[in-house]
Amino acid sequence: MNTQDVYILAIESSCDDTSAAVLHNDKVLSNVVASQKIHEEYGGVVPELASRAHQQNIVPVVNQALSRANIDKKQLSAIAFTRGPGLMGSLLVGTSFAKSLAIGLNIPLIEVNHMQAHILAHFIKEPDTPMPSFPFLALTISGGHTQIVKVSDYFKMEVIGETIDDAVGEAFDKSAKILGFPYPGGPLIDKYAKEGNPKAFSFPKPKVDGLNFSFSGFKTAVLYFIQKETKDNPNFITENRNDICASIQQGIINILMAKLKKATKETGIKQIAIGGGVSANSGIRTTLKDAEKRFGWTTYIPKFEYTTDNAAMIGIVGYYKFLNQDFTNERITAKARFAI
Ligand code: KG4
Ligand code: ZN
Repeated sequence: MNTQDVYILAIESSCDDTSAAVLHNDKVLSNVVASQKIHEEYGGVVPELASRAHQQNIVPVVNQALSRANIDKKQLSAIAFTRGPGLMGSLLVGTSFAKSLAIGLNIPLIEVNHMQAHILAHFIKEPDTPMPSFPFLALTISGGHTQIVKVSDYFKMEVIGETIDDAVGEAFDKSAKILGFPYPGGPLIDKYAKEGNPKAFSFPKPKVDGLNFSFSGFKTAVLYFIQKETKDNPNFITENRNDICASIQQGIINILMAKLKKATKETGIKQIAIGGGVSANSGIRTTLKDAEKRFGWTTYIPKFEYTTDNAAMIGIVGYYKFLNQDFTNERITAKARFAI
């Protein structure tokens, strides 16, 4: 088999983004993402609606990925798809589509763990984006995930800390909802925080053992705080919007940083690679840059389009599995819960 020129078609459908990408070895030729706007009016992802939208989007998204890459289906070496973790109905659409296409084209099928993909996204070759070397710590933060993973090799990963309840993106979005912002409110908190004082208000840091996280108590603390203040002053939110946002963001950053510092101490590893939609947060980025100077860390952030859910990251895992000839077969099933 020719491993000089590997062309992978990758499919991602684990949550509310339908995405397809074509990779030539470790380079991305196309990465198409159809985000589902429908969930905004419900203030969160509605699984039934997500599955339906994936069904509508998957064929046009795959066709667009192939045509943007200027690749014919017959040139493909293999199909990679997200097996899990994620929403079962959403995963079923991508899994079934990938299986059928691989059978139709008579090419290998590669299953991909979505959380591994967020981490291996750092190995997509891009100009001006340095790749981490092994071992490193990966912090994956999004609307669905919060994990610290010790990465010793491409497929040697160990989860050393994760959330026991809400994900960090949910802490942003639920706090934003309390302030009356539309879903997803994380980016708005970031925007207003830039103009506010992060020390104006303080929120308690949860006490969680080891390297695990908890964010459900944080959201409740924000709720009680806002309820108390607006009782005394109904205009409290509008009058203090920027300070509230800056303080909420700072509270979340403090929780993340405390665990990251503990993880670097315990493992002796000072390379930190972040991924997931929340890594777009400007406060987190500034704090990490600052940590490079303060603690001697080296931090890595992939190009933004590879940090949120996307198929290019599924494709890079597909490429490395292809090199190992690590293929699956047509009896494979999607897995809503799927450990790294
Ligand atoms: O990775 P992603 O696009 O989707 C998944 O959840 O898998 O992440 C979306 C999450 C949302 O919770 C959104 O509010 C949050 O990332 N987010 C941000 C920012 N941009 C996106 N949170 C804080 N600051 C941002 N700039
Ligand atoms: Zn994700």
